[in-house]
Amino acid sequence: MNKLIVSAPGRINIIGEHTDYNLGYVLPTAIDKHLTFTFEANGTASICRVKSMGYGSAHEFDFTTMERRSSSWHNYIQGVVSEILKRTDKLQGFNCTIESTLPVGSGVSSSAALECGLSFGLNELFNLGLSKIEMVKLCQQADHNYVGIMSGIMDQFASMMSKKGQVILLDCRSLDHEYIPLDLGDYTFLLLNSGVSHELANSEYNTRQQECQKGIKLIRQKHPEVASLRDVSLEMLETQKSRLPSTVYRRCQFVIQENVRVLAAVDALKKGDLPSLGTLMYATHQGLRHDYEVSCMELDFLVDFTKDHKEVLGARIMGGGFGGCCINLIRSGYVAEFTAKIAGAYKKEFNIELDAFQAVPYHGVSIV
Ligand code: GLA
Repeated sequence: MNKLIVSAPGRINIIGEHTDYNLGYVLPTAIDKHLTFTFEANGTASICRVKSMGYGSAHEFDFTTMERRSSSWHNYIQGVVSEILKRTDKLQGFNCTIESTLPVGSGVSSSAALECGLSFGLNELFNLGLSKIEMVKLCQQADHNYVGIMSGIMDQFASMMSKKGQVILLDCRSLDHEYIPLDLGDYTFLLLNSGVSHELANSEYNTRQQECQKGIKLIRQKHPEVASLRDVSLEMLETQKSRLPSTVYRRCQFVIQENVRVLAAVDALKKGDLPSLGTLMYATHQGLRHDYEVSCMELDFLVDFTKDHKEVLGARIMGGGFGGCCINLIRSGYVAEFTAKIAGAYKKEFNIELDAFQAVPYHGVSIV
């Protein structure tokens, strides 16, 4: 069979952080930075050979005998294969080479791109008959069952389902979604990659998830109808405040407020009210920093720096936290000057080169 080439994008999230695994709202889109996969069937029954040009390494395994590995990119690959095997017996041996224009560990979800590109390509190569939504879900299951991160569904959904020029308002409970054209006029989304990805990210991510679950469990003792934080209003949370450990209370409060912010942001976007959108982004950062406690000094520095620049309407840490990118809503004409200024200040403070790029909504995984 001929070679099959597939492109799988990373994603940004305009607003709605840590809401997805609490079955709330998010507002992501894929971006024009991606992984490119070249696939071919290799004629074996079950030998998989995957080569990552980015990592400069290869991984060969037999899917009938594979076991969890210590390297995370190996686990993402094997995790997807393992989830596919639960759903079909049509998979066979394959070769796959992966090239990347996506910065790893920068909060634009190179891992979801890896999972989605792999499952999309294998689905195509072996006619597995999986729908896009089934693939989104199986990639999330790969995170849970193989990689060991209890992630929400946002990243995989954005990498697979996005449309060019639009952002997705996704209800993570029903998976209902609305595509919203992104018209920023003179403004743009500028991503600043802090160049740090703290070790804490995965363990603290799972801890936050458990803290939210704990909140739910305690609230449910008085309100049995509550299934997730999505069902809890701020008023209800207040009545339960004395029954919750203070950390758990602050985590829950952040999530509930963040859901409200997503819907307000959509409203602002539809009205072209960018100052309001920016204000909401700043509020999200405040919450992530002080209540959800997933920021870090490098990202706080970047966000604080923007506040003296009126051309920046909003800024916040993006993604799971503890490093990665800061997303900024900024006047397009000011990008070059601002980038030079903030990169200089960041270098002086942390001795790290700041990587900057503008993010444009792009379409999801596709055959090239
Ligand atoms: C990571 C996860 C997502 C989401 C974000 C935080 O990117 O993979 O599911 O929870 O963190 O919003």
